[in-house]
Amino acid sequence: MSQSNTPLLIVEDDLALQKQIKWSLDRFESVTASDRESALLQVRRHQPAVVTMDLGLPPDPDSVSEGFKLLEQILDVDPATKVIVLTGQNDQANALRAVAMGAYDFLAKPFEPDVLNLTIERAYRLAELQAENRRLQALHQPDALAGLITRDADMLRIARTIERVASSDATVLLLGESGTGKEVLAQGLHTASKRKGRFVAINCAAIPENLLESELFGYERGAFTGAAKTTPGKIETANDGTLMLDEIGDLPHSLQAKLLRFLQQRTIERLGGRNEIAVDVRVVCATHQDLKQLIAEGRFREDLYYRLAEIVVNIPPLRSRTGDAVLLAHAFLRRFSQEQRRGSLSFSEDAIKAIEQHPWPGNVRELLNALKRASIMAETDRLSCDDLGLPAPATGEPGAERSDLDLRTVREAAERTAIVGALARSNGNIVKASEILGVSRPTLYDLMRRLSIK
Ligand SMILES: Nc1ncnc2c1ncn2[C@@H]1O[C@H](COP(=O)(O)OP(=O)(O)OP(=O)(O)O)[C@@H](O)[C@H]1O
Ligand SMILES: [Mg+2]
Repeated sequence: MSQSNTPLLIVEDDLALQKQIKWSLDRFESVTASDRESALLQVRRHQPAVVTMDLGLPPDPDSVSEGFKLLEQILDVDPATKVIVLTGQNDQANALRAVAMGAYDFLAKPFEPDVLNLTIERAYRLAELQAENRRLQALHQPDALAGLITRDADMLRIARTIERVASSDATVLLLGESGTGKEVLAQGLHTASKRKGRFVAINCAAIPENLLESELFGYERGAFTGAAKTTPGKIETANDGTLMLDEIGDLPHSLQAKLLRFLQQRTIERLGGRNEIAVDVRVVCATHQDLKQLIAEGRFREDLYYRLAEIVVNIPPLRSRTGDAVLLAHAFLRRFSQEQRRGSLSFSEDAIKAIEQHPWPGNVRELLNALKRASIMAETDRLSCDDLGLPAPATGEPGAERSDLDLRTVREAAERTAIVGALARSNGNIVKASEILGVSRPTLYDLMRRLSIK
């Protein structure tokens, strides 16, 4: 995440010189460190796009080994970081070695403040261009479900199901709380199906009963008062495409019978019309209601249910998806900072924890709205829980109780939670995630393969 308003990190063990550098670079916001450990901490904390560093660092300031180690570690955390190495006079060999290792540039001490300022400015500009480039590349994913952001095992399984059934004509019933992404999945199903026609959605709960029939089936001119011209309904409009019946649980009883007839015969008759019109549509339904319960109460036809429920997809609420809240939060924040032209916004540690702890009853939509509001309203670039309208996070993890005592299952579940959580927190960066987890990169790759985490 290299962007222009991340602070500059100045690594210099001579405190007087450190002060002097900071002072001569006062047009950049900067943070400082005087040894390798504290520098790495600053790197993780601020994700600086540009770093200036001395190669001779304690405990052995006369050798360059700590400096090279630090350079390597900074680039491990984020290879896009622009590191400018400040070397002693006559130390060209080390300067060249640093550049060979991936440093952006080097300057010999004592440096000219103007030259250093310019070098840093150029580094920021390059970092910004590269970040923009990465963003544009990410936009070009042709995947049907590319808009679906998740790393949760259940959601990934659902995405695979959607892709697998897309090419069939099977009716799909999407069940999930409000804001869980039913429409996103329905659209994904349509895109993956490669059906030539349109994706047409109609919300059965939002339209009064008397209008819903003509909305769905269309009408002939003069069918009723006000029917000035023949108008095709949504079903017909979706011919060769996909029809999404949203909030299907709210479909009035009279229309349930009519819809069932359409699903059996695959023809419709417009209101006031006499012709049967053949329509080829894939139907996908969604509801947040418990259809089984509605059937038990006599409010939903069982025979219609079985027509609609050829494939049933239960979408988990956001609170039970591992790591997704933070993952989505990062993605939305990036999207909104670009839309609001606010440079790069980021989260405070507390904000991240608060996002992890909030139950998100309104699911992804609630999270999306919270981030949109925060990205417009926040007074600083580092969003706090206050900015997100969330309570400060509780300290200490609540002891998760497990009923499942099979050690292997417990261990795998714990590993999965930690890995998915670390990947979410590091925004998918494997190097950072392996650091958070305290394992090497190859080990993390192995674990991900074993636990089928993508
Ligand atoms: N996994 C996801 N990745 C990215 N964006 C998502 C995801 N899930 C949902 N969204 C976004 O969240 C918002 C709500 O999603 P959607 O409209 O699909 O929910 P829904 O289940 O249809 O909700 P409702 O029941 O209220 O109609 C949309 O703006 C959608 O783009
Ligand atoms: Mg919806």
